[in-house]
Amino acid sequence: MALNAQPLSDKFAVAITGVDLSKELDQELFDEIVDIFVRKQVVVFRDQHIEPQHQLAFSRKFGPLEMLFDDDQRVAGFPEVAILSNEKVAGKFIGVVAAGDFWHSDQSYRKTPSLATMLYAHKIPKIGGDTEFADMHGAYESLPDEIKKRIEGRMGINQRSKLGNHRVAVTREGGEEYYQRKAANNVLHPMVRTHPVTGRKGLYVSPRFTVGIEGMDDAEAQPLLDTLFAYQTAPGNVYRHKWTLGDFVMWDNRSLNHQACGGYAMDDIRLMHRTSTIGDEPFA
Ligand code: OGA
Ligand code: MN
Repeated sequence: MALNAQPLSDKFAVAITGVDLSKELDQELFDEIVDIFVRKQVVVFRDQHIEPQHQLAFSRKFGPLEMLFDDDQRVAGFPEVAILSNEKVAGKFIGVVAAGDFWHSDQSYRKTPSLATMLYAHKIPKIGGDTEFADMHGAYESLPDEIKKRIEGRMGINQRSKLGNHRVAVTREGGEEYYQRKAANNVLHPMVRTHPVTGRKGLYVSPRFTVGIEGMDDAEAQPLLDTLFAYQTAPGNVYRHKWTLGDFVMWDNRSLNHQACGGYAMDDIRLMHRTSTIGDEPFA
């Protein structure tokens, strides 16, 4: 069966049918997938029936795997596969409950953030649970020249903790304590990032992780960040993914911000297996 790619929005995001991720992919097919991935940024593989080892084998082709979250939030025997879920077994959540609940690019508070993130839908809620993606190249290109000049060569200040970031709220139980424990240093990244493969420029700031601009007073920096965030999520720049069972979705964190939309009841189960790979250090 040949690869078939259908657009999911005007500018980015495609759905692929005719590829079985439980099988070894030949090099030609894989190269075609990589090409679509860097150009379209969100790739949805429909109708997958895969096990953690298949997800790992495919994910690994995009870079070294990340091992995130806590031991008891990962698939037993496959520590690089994390579980995102609101499901409880014996009164205890089996995975991460509220991952990605504000616009962000994965791990952008680290020196070397994530490249690709992959989610495989094992269970989807009847209502809610969508994931939204915003095109950071489109957002950058839509900026007036005056704003492009103001951010040229500037570094954003990125921070993991939600404490002290007025744009986000701590939603998880015990979150305050968690973020105090996990608090880390600020990490600087160029606000305008060049994609290492396509050479396209994109905005590399997010409400979740970017808390300031290096060398700029907050009186100027905060309204400027608000303006940038508004451009990022302008209509036409966002694709909202409504999950179908068996969807395997991967996205390019060098090109996109994304967020979990939530909106499902606690007894309406969503269960995703998550893998991600480490990328390069962002450059202007
Ligand atoms: C993530 C993430 C969004 C979702 O896994 O990094 O942001 O909809 N997930 O689960
Ligand atoms: Mn995320």
